[in-house]
Amino acid sequence: MSKVTQITHPLILHKLALIRDKHTGSKDFRELVEEVAMLMAYEVTRNLQTEDVEIETPICKTTCKMLSGKKVAIIPILRAGLGMVGGMIKLIPAAKVGHIGLYRDEATLKPVEYFCKLPQDIGEREVIVTDPMLATGGSASDAITILKKKGAKNIRLMCLIAAPEGIKTVTEIHPDVDVYIASIDEKLNENGYIVPGLGDAGDRLYGTK
Ligand code: PRP
Ligand code: URA
Repeated sequence: MSKVTQITHPLILHKLALIRDKHTGSKDFRELVEEVAMLMAYEVTRNLQTEDVEIETPICKTTCKMLSGKKVAIIPILRAGLGMVGGMIKLIPAAKVGHIGLYRDEATLKPVEYFCKLPQDIGEREVIVTDPMLATGGSASDAITILKKKGAKNIRLMCLIAAPEGIKTVTEIHPDVDVYIASIDEKLNENGYIVPGLGDAGDRLYGTK
């Protein structure tokens, strides 16, 4: 069964309030999304494996822990998921980045796939899917299904804001995928937008509306 983790660090809460504010422009919005993603990455990567490594400090030899085992792949769902990659890659510079392009049809709210380019060794990597918004859950569920068809096995999903409906959908369809969220909001409105949410994440990131 999926584990759903809400990350409520004060720095994340503060930045999330600024992100939600409709007066926050694209430049600040982009920076804040990147910063929140970086802060969340700390928790999302908590169970990565480490191994003992011998190093020499200027004083003496010592044994330290370094990351071991599976490498990481970060998979943003285009467009808005891309806004979270910069923050993640700063902390995990060796991660490979794949892209899945999905947009939500405005009438049906169903996701439509238009792009997919993944690291070749996706099956051997710890996969972190990023998207700021988990609304109906259709986009995230489809992205994870695409990843599984391409061989990905260890997948976690990381979103800034989720509606309860989206969490239910993803965790029912993909019970093997753990979900990390900064905020679980109240509901979806009649247009499929999260309430109170932050509006359209892609448009606010890239200034397209
Ligand atoms: C937004 C968001 C998610 C999706 C969430 O993308 O970034 O991918 O909607 O909605 P869902 O859970 O109901 O599927 P959008 O389709 O607006 O595309 P964009 O990122 O290119 O703006
Ligand atoms: N996509 C967004 O960008 N925002 C929402 O509230 C729902 C879906």
